[in-house]
Amino acid sequence: MQTREGLIDFFSNDYLGFASDQSIDPETGGQDLILLQQNGSTGSRLISGNSIAHEELELALAHVFRADSALLFNSGYDANIGLLSAVLQRQDSVFFDRLSHASIRDGISLSAASSFGFEHNDLSDLVKKVDKGRSKSGQNYVIVESVYSMDGDEAPLQELSEYCRSENLYLIVDEAHSTGILGPEGSGLTTSLGLEKEVFARIHTFGKALGCHGAAVLGSETLTTYLTNFSRSFIYTTAMPPREALRIRAALEKMKHTKRRDRLRQNIETFLQEMKTLNLSSHFIPSRSPIQSFLLPDASQPDGIGQIFAKEKIAAKIIFSPTVPKGQERIRICIHSFNTSAEIRRILQLLSTFV
Ligand SMILES: Cc1ncc(COP(=O)(O)O)c(C=O)c1O
Repeated sequence: MQTREGLIDFFSNDYLGFASDQSIDPETGGQDLILLQQNGSTGSRLISGNSIAHEELELALAHVFRADSALLFNSGYDANIGLLSAVLQRQDSVFFDRLSHASIRDGISLSAASSFGFEHNDLSDLVKKVDKGRSKSGQNYVIVESVYSMDGDEAPLQELSEYCRSENLYLIVDEAHSTGILGPEGSGLTTSLGLEKEVFARIHTFGKALGCHGAAVLGSETLTTYLTNFSRSFIYTTAMPPREALRIRAALEKMKHTKRRDRLRQNIETFLQEMKTLNLSSHFIPSRSPIQSFLLPDASQPDGIGQIFAKEKIAAKIIFSPTVPKGQERIRICIHSFNTSAEIRRILQLLSTFV
């Protein structure tokens, strides 16, 4: 499968090829016709924007992701800012991994809580930060991503959750890049470890492996009821169109049983094998996910790489600072279920000429 411009896709988050899959299109999937006839949702969920499609999707999400309750947001960005700005209170402390996504940082900034970044995936640094910064009068929260969007590595969730339990900290996990990829039926890293009861809130997004748009916060009934009443990015915005809710629902069903997850895993294996054969492993950030980051030997000379990729019809993006730390500029390669072994070999051969 190629990008809209006819290039080989090594840059999109469409890990399973759902974005162009007609079978999840409600028009062709035989879904509820009355809901389909309505283009827009016409208002906030709290006024005219609610529909049976939104409500049924939330029930299905809670079931698939093994949570008590789910609340839809219009994007992962909205979910993170809406969750964090509503939950974090002035007297609270929040500890976040330094590589957390901008939406997590912005959500924290919108709150008045005291915030502390800890070194990426470094539990001992988290312990130090908590010892120093924990709130005595309020609650304490730890926020991580299951799979990091720019490095592709996983959070040490088992250890983190044991620590949070022992210290009485609320754990929040952004599952944007594990949704559809990890865990039973693609339900994420938290469920793959059976930790759903240990995690206070999870954020699953639908714009990546599900090929749709939108997101949900998963947690207790108390949490989603609270967010319904206090989360500004939930309340003060037009709800997603019911058509999109139907599409997400169909994608969710497909996600559960798709064989594409196995093909994606095989492609990741092929990528890692070939990387080893070409002696490139030391140039990559260690990762077993579809996100593989090749650190640029010389970030001041990106033009040559861009031209070679363009000539070879390969779509892969160079990521610069401040999205990634200075000195860690990289080519972020996304592997998909639909990439061929020949394509994988080709991009790695090209990279081997840059080192
Ligand atoms: C970890 C993480 N969280 C949240 C988001 C935001 O999701 P959305 O694109 O649905 O706004 C992203 C998207 O890049 C992400 O990588």
